[in-house]
Amino acid sequence: MKILLTGAHGQLGQALQQLVTADVQLVALSSQQLDLVDAGQVQAAIAQHQPAVIINAAAYTQVDKAESESARAWAVNQQGVANLVNATTAATRLLHISTDFVFDGLAHTPYTTTAATHPLGVYGNSKLGGEQVLLSQAPERSCIIRTAWLYSAGSKNFLHTMLQLMQTRDSLRVVADQRGTPTSAAGLAAALWRAVQLPAVTGLLHWTDDGETTWHGFACEIQRLGLQYGLLHRQVPIHPIATHDYPTPAQRPAYSVLDKESTFAALGLRALPWQRALAEVIQQRAA
Ligand SMILES: NC(=O)c1ccc[n+]([C@@H]2O[C@H](COP(=O)([O-])OP(=O)(O)OC[C@H]3O[C@@H](n4cnc5c(N)ncnc54)[C@H](OP(=O)(O)O)[C@@H]3O)[C@@H](O)[C@H]2O)c1
Repeated sequence: MKILLTGAHGQLGQALQQLVTADVQLVALSSQQLDLVDAGQVQAAIAQHQPAVIINAAAYTQVDKAESESARAWAVNQQGVANLVNATTAATRLLHISTDFVFDGLAHTPYTTTAATHPLGVYGNSKLGGEQVLLSQAPERSCIIRTAWLYSAGSKNFLHTMLQLMQTRDSLRVVADQRGTPTSAAGLAAALWRAVQLPAVTGLLHWTDDGETTWHGFACEIQRLGLQYGLLHRQVPIHPIATHDYPTPAQRPAYSVLDKESTFAALGLRALPWQRALAEVIQQRAA
């Protein structure tokens, strides 16, 4: 099966490439090779490769910067998705990734796929815009997987930042009043490859690792496992702080745990507890 992957150099794009199986002919294109905002480029790439499935791992993901770069965020996260829809026929399946930031975080129990959306900022709004393009224009051939708190063994994520700070600072302050679920990009990639094998699966899905914690809880577990697997050599205090002690341009949902039961049933696959997935990634980094 021929599959075109966008955003190939991103965190998820790389995780997807690491798990590709021999039966898949993967055309993995970075933002330099395929700019989703350029409708002509999208048309040309799809005409050239004629994929059976497109996995859209490309996105504008800079949550804070999006507040001042709204046009760019919308161009990539909504218009880019529309460009994919417009360049494909009914024969092409579209697998797309969205975010917990479509919710306002006022809930106290996990958000189901049918829960009302209400993004708090530009990033969440633009990602919701992308979802709506697929659900309104190509519902019968689209599968949208919302995820959250993504990290991998590579750089540019919370795990990497924490490990760096734990090596260089004498203490850390980490937000303890936002709840969600850390999610290994490898686990999400495995779920996406399973979705590729199941063409009847369409609509909205939720995938994160299992369980829930705060950013502070995530940081403490990173330190514990980092010490255990030899990535860290000393313990530093990690002080819990409130969101208002760490102001950011974009407001974040205070609670963004996703209900995944319907997704686990649809995919026939369950996520690992987030602590176990983290241990695997830290072991991989240590190796
Ligand atoms: N990271 C998280 O915590 C998180 C949480 C929830 C949902 N998600 C969603 O999960 C998906 C994957 O996220 P990620 O963490 O892998 O993000 P990422 O590491 O930032 O990767 C996104 C990729 O998209 C590319 N891109 C940006 N603009 C593009 C354009 N116009 N055309 C083509 N490619 C473009 C980027 O390339 P450049 O670097 O060259 O710009 C980058 O390689 C996204 O849909 C994101 O919204 C992420």
